[in-house]
Amino acid sequence: MKDVVFDLIESEKTRQKEGLELIPSENYVSSNVLKAMGSILTNKYSEGYPSFEGINEWDEAKIAEKVLPNYRYYGGQKNVDRIERLAIDRACRLFHADHANVQPHSGAQANTAVYFAWCEPGDTILGMSLPAGGHLTHGAPVTLSAHVYNFVGYGVNSDGDIDYDDLEEKALKEDPKIILVGYSAFMKVPDFKRVSEIRDKAAKKFGHEILLMADMAHVAGLIAGGVHPNPLDFGFDVMTTTTHKTLRGPRGGLIMSKGKVASPLKKPVHTLENIPILIDRAVFPGTQGGPLEHIIAAKAVAFGEALQPSFKDYAKQIVKNAKVLAEELQALGFVLQGGGTENHLVLVDCVSSFGFDGKVYEKALDKAGLTLNANALATDKGGAFIPSGVRLGTPAITTRGFKEPEMVKLAGWMKQVADICKNGGSDEELAKIREEVEELALKFPVPGI
Ligand SMILES: Cc1ncc(COP(=O)(O)O)c(C=O)c1O
Repeated sequence: MKDVVFDLIESEKTRQKEGLELIPSENYVSSNVLKAMGSILTNKYSEGYPSFEGINEWDEAKIAEKVLPNYRYYGGQKNVDRIERLAIDRACRLFHADHANVQPHSGAQANTAVYFAWCEPGDTILGMSLPAGGHLTHGAPVTLSAHVYNFVGYGVNSDGDIDYDDLEEKALKEDPKIILVGYSAFMKVPDFKRVSEIRDKAAKKFGHEILLMADMAHVAGLIAGGVHPNPLDFGFDVMTTTTHKTLRGPRGGLIMSKGKVASPLKKPVHTLENIPILIDRAVFPGTQGGPLEHIIAAKAVAFGEALQPSFKDYAKQIVKNAKVLAEELQALGFVLQGGGTENHLVLVDCVSSFGFDGKVYEKALDKAGLTLNANALATDKGGAFIPSGVRLGTPAITTRGFKEPEMVKLAGWMKQVADICKNGGSDEELAKIREEVEELALKFPVPGI
């Protein structure tokens, strides 16, 4: 009997092929990533870790041929050990890390594990506030982490850049255990060196180590592709990310760190040097059970793809496309938060641009085959429920092969949809645009479909 779930998957395939995906946190994975995710590795339990011996020293053929010692709690690990080792090794090479934990099931899990590895309940963590562009897991009151830790938020200035003076003032006043740079709606490139200096100053003042953490979930692919600085090159101790956004892997999380790599079985002294081991213990058994080895295999495949020279071209094109799209939109009268973009993200201030909120615009664009999400702006008083903006990005359409001419077309459609909304236009008018969108979309195949 055919399960109706497969009909729905087919229907989703059609939606993905015919529409344009502008949600900046989405992408299309390769057929090899899909193959690994759908593999029999899902049958295996592998609580614990493979050996870390020789990370960054062995070549891949050696990893693949050697049966490794391990720190696992189940038998039958000879293949998953080697797959997980490849994923760890490739992640370390991609991001200049001493160690990588590839087991977090998601970006939220990755962040939770880092907080748990370094902080006691009630400790202060300094992160970008949600309205300024930070993520929910950076201390939004509705989250578990905000119940356990004392999050203090820093903001952005009128140019949309991090308010470094605010950050420094709070770092020197609040005695943080972690200083966190990361975001879901921020269009600038952070000054990692400056934040690193602020950390050193605060650590000296309070007389204890402060963990410097970056959550690069959005821009990890840009870092891997060499078009965005890497926080681990500027004194950061830990970098978390999701693997499914610009990095173009399966849905999941990843934690990279600098420091000493050793057996996770023995509880290490609580120092920054030992952060890799503290993190391994915080992921398993701290906050997760068995790792998803089929997803870890897909991460290994995606990291292998990101190590190829062609990924550099991809990352470059993502940023080029975002900049052209932002310029075109501005030329058509759109007001953008931060005045444009330096990465893959664009945040439109709908209220200032057209006088209606982001939800109205998101719904109308959806009817025209353009998928994005309504998003609060730094200045919003209504928060997430009445967002004044929409957030869009170029990772997915760049994977399909879109370049500058398609960005000009896209901006034109976005303007037409805005005009239809403003003039109280009809669904028929939006459907007409949808036909044009579909025609163009079908010329650019989605990988794996
Ligand atoms: C900066 C940042 N951190 C963490 C996450 C959480 O990732 P996940 O949805 O995989 O839990 C996101 C997701 O959007 C994000 O943007």
